[in-house]
Amino acid sequence: MRDALTNASAVLIAALFGLGLVAAARGENGQHFSQVERGRYLATLADCASCHTTPGVQKAYAGGRPIETPFGDLVAPNLTPDRETGIGSWTDDEFDGAVRKGVMPDGSRLYPAMPYVYYSKMSHDDVLAIRAYLNTIEAVHNPVTSNTLPFPFDIRTVMRVWDWLYFTPAEFKPDPSKSAEWNRGAWLVQGPAHCGACHTPKSVLGGDKAARALQGYSLQGWFAPDITSGNGALKDWATNDVVEYLRTGHNKFAAAAGPMGEEIAMSSSKMSDDDLKAIAAYLKDVSTPARTNPSAPAQDVVTAGAAIYTDLCSSCHKSDGKGVPHLIPDLSESASLKGNDPTTVLRVILQGAETVATDAEPTAPAMPSFGWQLSDDQIAAVATYVRNSFGNHGTPVTKANARDARHNLQSRTD
Ligand code: HEC
Ligand code: HEC
Ligand code: HEC
Repeated sequence: MRDALTNASAVLIAALFGLGLVAAARGENGQHFSQVERGRYLATLADCASCHTTPGVQKAYAGGRPIETPFGDLVAPNLTPDRETGIGSWTDDEFDGAVRKGVMPDGSRLYPAMPYVYYSKMSHDDVLAIRAYLNTIEAVHNPVTSNTLPFPFDIRTVMRVWDWLYFTPAEFKPDPSKSAEWNRGAWLVQGPAHCGACHTPKSVLGGDKAARALQGYSLQGWFAPDITSGNGALKDWATNDVVEYLRTGHNKFAAAAGPMGEEIAMSSSKMSDDDLKAIAAYLKDVSTPARTNPSAPAQDVVTAGAAIYTDLCSSCHKSDGKGVPHLIPDLSESASLKGNDPTTVLRVILQGAETVATDAEPTAPAMPSFGWQLSDDQIAAVATYVRNSFGNHGTPVTKANARDARHNLQSRTD
C-alpha cells in the first residue's frame, strides 16, 4: 500500500509539474517507478486483464469472468490488492508460485485455464514487475469462487497428475544460433503472449501436443488456425502482414473475430512495433512439413455451392474471392478455409461475425448471418465450395458437420 501511495504521488507530481520534473521526483523510487511501467507492459503482453476483468461489470482485475474450458467453466479470480478477496495479502513468492508454477499458497494446484504453463517461460523478475504494477491498481472487494467445474474435474488434486504429465516449469532459454529478434519472438509466443493456448492442438486431457505446436485447435466455437509457416496461411504472409494483423486486427488477407479479436484488442494492438516484428520473425521461421491436399469434393456439391456463393456472397467477397482489402477478407488467403477443421467457416456462415475494431482501425466490418435462410445441405455446399475454390483445398464439409455446428452454436450465448 505504501508503495502504491509513493507511486501514485510520483505520478501526481509528474502530472502537476510537467515531465521535466519526473527525473527529480524519481529519486530512490525511480527503480520502482520503472518496474511498475515494465509490469504494466508485461501484463499487456500476457493479456492478464482479458480473463481477470469482467467486461462492463467490474473494475479492472476484479475477476468474476467465466473462462470456458472443454471440461466446464472456471471463474477468473480477483487480482486487485484487496486483502480479503484479492491478492493483497499474498507474498511476492506466493504470487510467483501461482503465475509461473500453477501452485497456490496452500499448495493446491491451479487449472491450466490460467496459462501458467506459458507464463513459466517468464523470469522471476518479470513476474515481480507484474505484481508491482498490480499493487498500484484500485483494490476491489469482490469474492470469486473459481472452481465451478462438474465432478470429477472439480477435484483439484487431479491437477497434480496433469502437471506431472504436461508441465515442466522452465524459464525461456534463448537459442544462441538465432538472432536476438527471433529469440524475443520465441519468448513472446511461447511465453507471456501464450499463442499456443489457443493455436496448439490439445490431448484429451487438454494438455498441449508439443510436437504439433501452433498447428491449429478449435475452442469456444472457433477454430484457431495453423499459424506456422509450413501449412498455415502465414506461408504467404510477409512479416509486415503479420505485424499489421496483430496491430490492427486486419490486413489484406484476413480480419480477426472472436477470441482472436479479443486478443488483438486487449493485447497485441498495444504491443510495441519491435515486439510485433519479433513475433512475425519467429512465426515466419516455424515451419511444418507440407500436407497433401485432400481429394476433391463431389461435383454436384461444388455446383450447388457455387450458385449460392454467386447469389449471397459474391457481392462482398467478389467472384474471385479477393474481397475488399482491409474490409472484406480475401477468401483465397484465409487460414480458416485451408485448415482441416471447418469450425470457423461454419460459424461465420451460420451466425455472421463482426471483426475487431482497434485504435488503428476503428471501423469493424461485419458479415451477416445466413443460418436462418440456408438449410444444412446448402450451408455444407457453400462451405465446401469456398474451401475448394480460389486456390483452397479444404476437406469437404458434410450436412452432418453443418447440423452439429448449428446445434453447438444454438447452445452458446456468445
Ligand atoms: C486465459 C485466461 C487467463 C489469463 C490470460 C490469465 N489468467 Fe490468471 N487465472 C485464470 C483462471 C481461470 C484462474 C483460476 C484457476 C483455478 O481456479 O484453478 C486464474 C488464477 C490466477 C491466480 C490465482 C489467484 C487466486 O486468488 O486464486 C493468479 C495470481 C493469477 N491468475 C494471475 C494472473 C496473471 C498475473 C496473469 C497475466 C500474467 C493471468 N493470471 C492471466 C485465468 C487467466
Ligand atoms: C484466446 C485464443 C487465442 C489466442 C491467445 C491467440 N489466438 Fe490467434 N486466433 C485465434 C482464433 C480463434 C483465430 C481465428 C479467428 C478468425 O477466424 O477471425 C485466430 C487467428 C489468428 C491468425 C489469423 C490466421 C488467418 O490466416 O486468418 C493469426 C496470424 C494469429 N491468430 C496469430 C496469433 C498470435 C501470434 C498469437 C499470440 C500473440 C495468437 N494468435 C493468440 C485464437 C487465439
Ligand atoms: C455484407 C458483406 C458480406 C457478405 C454478403 C458475406 N460476407 Fe463473408 N465476411 C464478411 C466480412 C466483413 C468478414 C470478416 C468477418 C470476420 O472475420 O469477423 C467475412 C468473413 C468471412 C469468412 C471468414 C474468413 C476468415 O478469414 O476467417 C468466410 C469463410 C466468409 N466470410 C464466407 C462467406 C460466405 C460463404 C458468404 C455467403 C454465404 C459470405 N461470406 C457473405 C462480409 C460478407
